[in-house]
Amino acid sequence: MNLTAEDYRPSPDPILEFKQWFEKAKNSTEQEPTAMSLATLDLESKPRVRIVLCKEFNETGFSFFTNYDSNKAKELEIKPYASLSFHWKSLELQVRAEGKVQKTTRQESETYFNSRPRESQIGAWASSQSRVLNSRKDLLDKYKEYEAKFAKQKIMCPPFWGGYRVIPDYFEFWIGMPGRLHNRFQYIKDKKQGWMLTRLYP
Ligand SMILES: Cc1cc2nc3c(=O)[nH]c(=O)nc-3n(C[C@H](O)[C@H](O)[C@H](O)COP(=O)(O)O)c2cc1C
Repeated sequence: MNLTAEDYRPSPDPILEFKQWFEKAKNSTEQEPTAMSLATLDLESKPRVRIVLCKEFNETGFSFFTNYDSNKAKELEIKPYASLSFHWKSLELQVRAEGKVQKTTRQESETYFNSRPRESQIGAWASSQSRVLNSRKDLLDKYKEYEAKFAKQKIMCPPFWGGYRVIPDYFEFWIGMPGRLHNRFQYIKDKKQGWMLTRLYP
């Protein structure tokens, strides 16, 4: 796959296209190839963005994990739609996608939680993500409290923690090219005709 070839022809299927790009990024020198910016709308319809890690991508979409009481979770409860982007600087590539958002199943969340390092599992219990923290000591004390509580025990996935899946209905791929003549193409999902691929001026 030579993305910078002048005659590069993207796949008609953006899922296949993204899978190839994602593999390329994961095998590159990028430090956080799974990091994606995730934008939601707040309760006043103002956009809010933050980075989360894409833990899986497949035919059903992009999944990430978080605290279900966090600000992003509250925003997704009201408006279950998100816009996301990956930037792989060393490869001069960007991908954008948009779509409806659904919670992952409890089993998927538990399977991923169980694969996490023990410190991260305790951290998930200790953090009331996005709530006001009066002092850093309060967080460290909560961590120690849960560390003691779960000593020598398997740590269960907190009920307030789990995943979301962004189910894409739009993709845009961007390849940096000389002279700012970047290669850009988008896919829009049409209910009847499936994915419609078009090129865009850079
Ligand atoms: C590289 C990086 C990866 C991150 N990954 C996650 C993640 O996977 N899940 C998560 O909840 N927050 C992650 N965060 C923290 C979020 O950016 C954000 O601060 C947090 O989720 C609270 O966002 P909210 O208040 O909008 O809900 C990550 C931050 C960085 C810089």
